[in-house]
Amino acid sequence: MLKSVRMTASILIFLLMIHGVSSAGWDVSYSPSHICALKNSSVIMSCTFTYPTGYNIKKVFWTKNPVKGKEPLDLSKYPEYKQRLQYLGDTQQNCTIRLSHVTQKDEDEYCFRFITNKADTKWIGAPGVTLTVTDLQVEAPERVTEGHNVSLTCKSSCTLTDRATFIWYRNSQPLTERRDRNNQLLLQSVRREDAGRYSCALHGHSYISPAAHLNVTYAPKNVSVSVSPSGVIVEGDSVTLSCSSDSNPPAKISWFKEKTFVGSGRIYNISKISSDHSEVYKCKSTNEHGEKYSAAVTLNIMYPPRNVSVSITGSGVIVEGDSVTLSCSSDSNPPALNFSWFKENQSSAVGSGQSFSALQSGRFFCEAHNQHGSQRSDAVTVTVKVLYWKTSYTAIVVTLCGVVVAFIIVLLTCCCVNRNKLQSKSLTNSSNDMSIISDPSLFSYVYENVVAVHSCSKTPDPKMNIPLYENVTIYENLNITNRNML
Ligand SMILES: *[C@@H]1O[C@H](CO)[C@@H](O)[C@H](O)[C@H]1NC(C)=O
Ligand SMILES: *[C@@H]1O[C@H](CO)[C@@H](O)[C@H](O)[C@H]1NC(C)=O
Ligand SMILES: *[C@@H]1O[C@H](CO)[C@@H](O)[C@H](O)[C@H]1NC(C)=O
Ligand SMILES: *[C@@H]1O[C@H](CO)[C@@H](O)[C@H](O)[C@H]1NC(C)=O
Ligand SMILES: *[C@@H]1O[C@H](CO)[C@@H](O)[C@H](O)[C@H]1NC(C)=O
Ligand SMILES: *[C@@H]1O[C@H](CO)[C@@H](O)[C@H](O)[C@H]1NC(C)=O
Ligand SMILES: *[C@@H]1O[C@H](CO)[C@@H](O)[C@H](O)[C@H]1NC(C)=O
Ligand SMILES: *[C@@H]1O[C@H](CO)[C@@H](O)[C@H](O)[C@H]1NC(C)=O
Ligand SMILES: *[C@@H]1O[C@H](CO)[C@@H](O)[C@H](O)[C@H]1NC(C)=O
Repeated sequence: MLKSVRMTASILIFLLMIHGVSSAGWDVSYSPSHICALKNSSVIMSCTFTYPTGYNIKKVFWTKNPVKGKEPLDLSKYPEYKQRLQYLGDTQQNCTIRLSHVTQKDEDEYCFRFITNKADTKWIGAPGVTLTVTDLQVEAPERVTEGHNVSLTCKSSCTLTDRATFIWYRNSQPLTERRDRNNQLLLQSVRREDAGRYSCALHGHSYISPAAHLNVTYAPKNVSVSVSPSGVIVEGDSVTLSCSSDSNPPAKISWFKEKTFVGSGRIYNISKISSDHSEVYKCKSTNEHGEKYSAAVTLNIMYPPRNVSVSITGSGVIVEGDSVTLSCSSDSNPPALNFSWFKENQSSAVGSGQSFSALQSGRFFCEAHNQHGSQRSDAVTVTVKVLYWKTSYTAIVVTLCGVVVAFIIVLLTCCCVNRNKLQSKSLTNSSNDMSIISDPSLFSYVYENVVAVHSCSKTPDPKMNIPLYENVTIYENLNITNRNML
C-alpha cells in the first residue's frame, strides 16, 4: 500500500516535470499542452503561472522554441505575430494568449516567460504548448454505383482539440441530413443526385476543405429516340435518328429496325428514305451496369400516289342511256383525296372525285393527287352501244310499215308463185332479206339509202305505194348525238 502511494507520487512528479514547470513556488502550467488547431482558426493557449510571494512581476511575454543559454525573444515583436497575437492574461497568474489565423508555419512550441523586479529573476515555462495546425481533406471513393452505400470522411492530420461538429457541403450547398459519426457523412443507397463536389468544414470555422468529386455510376436510363426532321418526312428525304440516354459511364448505342441490328453510334442516318422504311426503329443503350431500350419509333413516310388504276364495274360495254361507273384507286400517304378524270386526247378534266360516271365511249384515265404529287392511271376503254330504233318514233313507224309491207309482199309472192311460176327470182331474195329485219328485238338498226321499190305490178291497192327497203346497213356504236340525222 505504502509502495503504491510512493509510486503514484513519483508518477505525479514526473507528470509535473512534463506539463508544468515548477520549482519551489515557481510554476507555469498550460492546458492543454498540445493543441491541434484548424488552419486559419484562432487558438487560445490557456496558461497560469505562480511565483513565490515577495516578488513583483516586471514583464510578461511569450516566446517560441527557447534555446538554453539564449535570451528568448518576445513574439509580439515579430512582424508575422504582431497582428495576430493577443495577450488575454494579467500580471498576477493568468498568462493566456490568443493566436489568430494560424497557419502551418505556426507549428512550434510556445512558452511563457516572466521577469520579476527582484534582481531581474526570470522564469520560462518550458516545455511549452505544442501547436499543430491541420487542414481538412475529404476522403471519398472516386466512384460509387447507384444503390450502394458510401461513407465520406473529413480527415485532419491530428485530432482536433476543438470538438466542434463537422459540416458537409455538396456543390457548396450545406447538407443537413445523413451525418454519420462526427467526421463522416454516410450516403445510403446512393442516388444519381448524390454525385457532386463534396467539402467539409468545422462548425464556427471559416476554413472549408478542398472539394472531392463523388462520381455515381448507373445503368442507362431515360433512353429515347429523336427524329430529325421532326415534321413530315417525305420519301427521298434524309432522316437522322438520334438516341439519347442518361448513363454513367457513357453508354454504347446500337440501333434496331424491327428486331434487326442496323448500326451503332448515337446518330443513325438514313439517306434517301424510301416508303419501305416506314418501319419501327429503336435504340439500345448499354454500359457496364446494364442496358435499356428506347420506346419504338415508327417513321411515317409520306409519298405521292402510285399504282394508280381505274376499275370498271361490268364489262365496259354499255347500252346507250345508261352509264358506267369508273373508280380510281391509288396507293399514297396520306391517302389521295383529289382525283381528276380525263378523256384521252382531251386536255381538260372531264370529272373529279374518286368515281366517275362515263356516259360516252372513249378511253378514260384518272389522276390521283395528294400534297406530295400526283400520278395518272392507264386508260380504260368504255364502249357505248346505241339502241337507235327505240329512240326514234319515225324509225318505229317506218319499221312497222316495213314489217307490214314485208308481210304483204310475202302473201303476194305466194300468190304470184302459185299463179305464175315464172316470177322474178330476185324479188324472192328481197323478201328473204326483209325477214331478217322483221325481228327487231335482236339488234338495233339504222336504215340508210332507203329505196322504194314496187314489189309487184299486181298490187291490190296501188294508192298505198308501200316502199321496199334495200341496202340496209347495221350500225353499232353510233353516237347518240347523230340519231336525228335521219
Ligand atoms: C485567464 O483569462 C482568460 C481571458 O480573460 C479567461 O478566459 C480565463 O478563464 C482566465 N483563466 C483563469 C485560470 O482564470
Ligand atoms: C446500406 O446500409 C443500410 C443500413 O445500414 C443497409 O441496410 C443496406 O443493406 C446497405 N446497402 C448496401 C448495398 O450495402
Ligand atoms: C480566414 O478566416 C477569416 C475570418 O476569420 C476569413 O475572412 C478568411 O477568408 C479565411 N481565410 C481562408 C483562407 O480561409
Ligand atoms: C428523361 O429526360 C427528359 C429530357 O432530358 C426529362 O425531361 C425527363 O424528366 C427524364 N425522365 C426521367 C425519368 O429521368
Ligand atoms: C465517372 O466515372 C466514369 C467511369 O470511370 C467516367 O467514365 C466518367 O467520366 C466519370 N464522370 C465524371 C463526371 O467524372
Ligand atoms: C449524319 O448526317 C449528318 C448530317 O447529314 C452528318 O453531319 C453526320 O456526320 C452523319 N453521321 C453519320 C454517323 O453518318
Ligand atoms: C405497286 O407498284 C409496285 C411497283 O411499282 C409493285 O411492286 C407493287 O406490288 C404495287 N403494289 C400494289 C398494291 O399494287
Ligand atoms: C389520241 O392521239 C394519239 C396521237 O396523239 C393517237 O395515236 C390516238 O389514236 C388518239 N386516240 C384517240 C382515242 O383518239
Ligand atoms: C384538292 O382539291 C381542292 C379543290 O380543288 C384544292 O383546293 C386542294 O388544294 C386540292 N388538294 C390537293 C392535295 O391537291
